[in-house]
Amino acid sequence: MTKRFNPQDVFFRKAQKQGFRARSAFKLQSILKKFPKFLQKNDSVLDLGCYPGSFLQVLSQESPRKLVGVDLQKTDSVSHALIHQGDIFSEEIAQTLFSYGKFDVITSDMAPKTTGIPDSDQFHSVELCERVLDLSSHILRPGGNLLLKIFVGADFDPFWRQFKNSFKKAKIYKPDASRDRSRETFLVGEGYQGNRE
Ligand SMILES: C[S@@+](CC[C@H](N)C(=O)[O-])C[C@H]1O[C@@H](n2cnc3c(N)ncnc32)[C@H](O)[C@@H]1O
Repeated sequence: MTKRFNPQDVFFRKAQKQGFRARSAFKLQSILKKFPKFLQKNDSVLDLGCYPGSFLQVLSQESPRKLVGVDLQKTDSVSHALIHQGDIFSEEIAQTLFSYGKFDVITSDMAPKTTGIPDSDQFHSVELCERVLDLSSHILRPGGNLLLKIFVGADFDPFWRQFKNSFKKAKIYKPDASRDRSRETFLVGEGYQGNRE
């Protein structure tokens, strides 16, 4: 039987060919192309959920002043990046992040360990996003930018309203590399103005 066309396979092979650790690299490249003001040369950047490191690989090519990554899993080094292993809900990681001062840009491609139960996975995805928005009130500079991956579902709308209120400009964007992952999408916030809810 002929194998069904799967765009994820194409991105997987492309990532291998270009030396990226995961196809997520193409999601970020597509977002940076669509939102050219999101990231500037010399920005200080935090990447949450950085393992295996393809976002960090893309970010390090953009000449950041400072590049920090965090993940539950151990991430092999990426040039210019300072990487911490830990849970973003832990006090230890919060304190580590506070010690860097404010970031210009935060990206989060974090996803919960999926269970196959859509409502539960979506709930945990929103929980991760809420934590990032909460941390942002301490570590994202006013006017800074935030990218969040989120699973769409019942808890999406209230979170989206909160996200939108926190930025001058906010958009929902689904890159081609996310196409057949129907529940995931990205929120792009530019011009942080504080958590206003
Ligand atoms: C889709 S992967 C990220 C891929 C990465 N952006 C890349 O380009 O290589 C999602 C990551 O989120 C991480 N993650 C999930 N919950 C987390 C938490 N509470 N704290 C830190 N990292 C978390 C997972 O360990 C996983 O590595």
